[in-house]
Amino acid sequence: MNRVVVGAQWGDEGKAKITDLLANDADLIIRYQGGCNAGHTVVVDDKVFKFHLIPSGILYKGKTCLIGAGTVILPETFEKEVQGLIAEGIDVSGLKVSPLASITMPYHTEVDGYSENTATKGKIGTTKKGIGPTYTDKMARIGLKIEDLYNPETLSEKLDVILPLKNKTLEKVYGLEPYSKECVTALCEKYAEIFKPYVCFEWQELLEKHKRDKSVVLFEGAQGVMLDVDYGTYPFVTSSNPIAGGACTGSGYGPKMIDEVIGVAKAYVTRVGEGPFVTELNDEVGEKIRNIGHEFGTTTGRPRRTGWFDVVTMKYAVLVGGLTSVALTKIDVFDDFDEIKICTAYKDTRDGKIYKSYPTNVFMHKYLEPVYETHTGWKTNLTGVKKYSDLPQNAKNYLSRLEELLEVPISIVSVGPNRDQTIFKEA
Ligand code: IMP
Repeated sequence: MNRVVVGAQWGDEGKAKITDLLANDADLIIRYQGGCNAGHTVVVDDKVFKFHLIPSGILYKGKTCLIGAGTVILPETFEKEVQGLIAEGIDVSGLKVSPLASITMPYHTEVDGYSENTATKGKIGTTKKGIGPTYTDKMARIGLKIEDLYNPETLSEKLDVILPLKNKTLEKVYGLEPYSKECVTALCEKYAEIFKPYVCFEWQELLEKHKRDKSVVLFEGAQGVMLDVDYGTYPFVTSSNPIAGGACTGSGYGPKMIDEVIGVAKAYVTRVGEGPFVTELNDEVGEKIRNIGHEFGTTTGRPRRTGWFDVVTMKYAVLVGGLTSVALTKIDVFDDFDEIKICTAYKDTRDGKIYKSYPTNVFMHKYLEPVYETHTGWKTNLTGVKKYSDLPQNAKNYLSRLEELLEVPISIVSVGPNRDQTIFKEA
């Protein structure tokens, strides 16, 4: 069973915990998009591991963990993360990096920081990790890939094309310092050393072998469907494709390799950064969710915006994200709530029009308000519940209603950060 784990909201849904659990059954785990903008937290025996780039499957012995061609890699973050794992005694011998992955250069981070710090209108609220500028260069065909680091001759030729263009933009558009060829070449030599033990030039043989052996492959997404560059709340999105389709382009495997797509969603919604959020709660309920759910960014530490579960965006995620089932996380955050709301539609305050399908032009979202149905809380501590049948009736009602609205099964329910705080619902 080859599975993709996709964030079904705006990221931070608890994908890492679900990926970590499913990685136990997998032979090969592939991170397919994004970069160190991601912050994946896994708790094992009360020990907290935070990942940005490395697939969380690395915590299991004997797994191959590939950082795929669709990712962008900030070398210093990669090095820090690897060293951190080694210091914890984690075996990183299964870690592999695609030679086709893109490199985030210092000028990408500078441009991201500049754009975010100077923009007033049109600010995206990025993580300032250089993600957008790295993907921009990749698409403009002036990016550097890991394989370039090991070919001094072609790297030199490439830099002769890239740097005059890059420096003109850096100086004239952003007022930033230019980069000399010597400086970039020296950086690339340093990066070549960092990646040397992990770069997987024989990735084609590796994928072929896993295909031949019918290995179990787990495709690990970062961010979430609503941050997808094509389908998300554009322009308030990241610059890659977290949706299941991205798993193919970012890994080198075709769609027929995928059996199942698990969309991870929280029992409520959070988002960091700018952009529309129809069910956002700017009140004490939102504050309560933030505090109980510890909703502060793993990568940036920013307080996350919070709101009620939104079926309109979630149904959209089921559709464009290709979800076959849902893992619902953090349901225990509601243990102390008298009432829990679910947004089932949007209402246009101008003409009363009801939207059940997601309106993709986000600039009209300021006119939308959520239509809610209210459920009675279960007022029970769920953090120790191990079986679906042991859930209180009100929690079961809430989950059944979500399944009915979303038209996909909720196969996993998470009631806490630890591995054993997970309920697998039998089909
Ligand atoms: P970027 O990916 O740094 O360019 O940021 C673009 C948008 O995606 C911003 O709103 C970020 O807050 C958001 N974003 C990027 N990565 C994550 C993530 O892992 N979790 C949640 N939001 C993210």
